[in-house]
Amino acid sequence: MHMPSFIQTKRDGRPHDDADLRAFVDGIVSGDIPDYQTAAWLMAVVFQGLSDAETATLASAMTDSGDRLDLSDLPHTVDKHSTGGVGDKTTLILAPLLAELGGTVAKMSGRGLGHTGGTIDKLESIAGFNVTLDEAAFLKQAADVGVVVAGASKRLAPADGKLYALRDATATVKSLPLIASSIMSKKLAGGAKSLVLDVKVGQGAFMKTVPEAVQLGRMMQAIGEREGRNVAVVLTDMDQPLGLAVGNASEVLEAIQVLQGSGPPDVREVVVRLAREVLTQSGLPASERDIRAALDDGRAYARFERWVAAQGGRLTDETSLALSPDTWMLTAPRDGVVANIDALAVGEAVRRLGGGRSRKDDAVDHGVGVDLHVKVGGRTGQGEPLATVRHRGGRGLEDAQRMLAGAFVLDDQAAERPVLLEVS
Ligand code: URA
Repeated sequence: MHMPSFIQTKRDGRPHDDADLRAFVDGIVSGDIPDYQTAAWLMAVVFQGLSDAETATLASAMTDSGDRLDLSDLPHTVDKHSTGGVGDKTTLILAPLLAELGGTVAKMSGRGLGHTGGTIDKLESIAGFNVTLDEAAFLKQAADVGVVVAGASKRLAPADGKLYALRDATATVKSLPLIASSIMSKKLAGGAKSLVLDVKVGQGAFMKTVPEAVQLGRMMQAIGEREGRNVAVVLTDMDQPLGLAVGNASEVLEAIQVLQGSGPPDVREVVVRLAREVLTQSGLPASERDIRAALDDGRAYARFERWVAAQGGRLTDETSLALSPDTWMLTAPRDGVVANIDALAVGEAVRRLGGGRSRKDDAVDHGVGVDLHVKVGGRTGQGEPLATVRHRGGRGLEDAQRMLAGAFVLDDQAAERPVLLEVS
């Protein structure tokens, strides 16, 4: 294919045909197309966009650039994707909950980057938990336990790996069709029949406003449906962190609370809604009451224990979920009501403490983090705790203190903020 013409087509706002888009993706993976031409095309897309049909073809070609997991022998395969947030531990709860309610969760997941955490890092804070499974072991556990979560294989959607690295280096991440095709190529390759997409909205999320989140949700839904998947979209708030715990081990502990019928109400609310949506898509309708009952009567937690044990994790061991003993407390400078907790600043504080990554290969400290004591709408008094910062020997503490001091806004009054924004 003639790359300058291909780039020019998009630069001038004209549509690509399917064959050209597919040849382009093949050329990225084979290495025949140099990065400078791909980067020029990416920037043209940022300005000109892609039609729904082009976005779907791009996603499908990216999916076809690698293996597609075949889950067709498993009943009611369900998956969820979150567009990335702070304190988002929902997969840890949702996966065993869905398995308990008749779904099969055979999920590939990622590590965290920047201010957002990743499920694989959270799972690795459980001593012994193995996230590297070959395909046979992965499928066997899905059949035996109903739930398995492993690190994403490089063989799934390799075109996305290459494109994403270039987008990161060329300021071309922020484009709805590129984000939608990137996310959906991995979900399609993951093989689940029914999906729920949790699109986060707010200062701690990719999507800062509801209209752009709605648009992203619709694009991803259209891509999935073209490939014969059932897709539900839920919009949830990411202006403030989800729940109280931010940091790998601490988030697992909070997930366990929710699995045992307690925990922060906003986490529970999101989990229940995501479960209801994806179960409905999968032809396993469950009422909110049924879903809550599985959390409250210990069934979801029992399934979580089976899942963790199947992947070698030890929950009772004293080295499990080891939180750092070094703490510092942020206290309220005045009486008031919490009007805002900047999720981005909290996520960034945890990264500086060592709980997240700046670069893909950075090591993560699972035991550090920030535990909130209040949420937006909550009342506090001068000198009362706003957050406990768990650091390791002072590493990154000064940065975290600075970020957190600016993260909390106190006012004379403020309303609680709903966590569920819109469902389509
Ligand atoms: N997450 C992805 O997987 N891809 C994007 O482009 C953005 C967020």
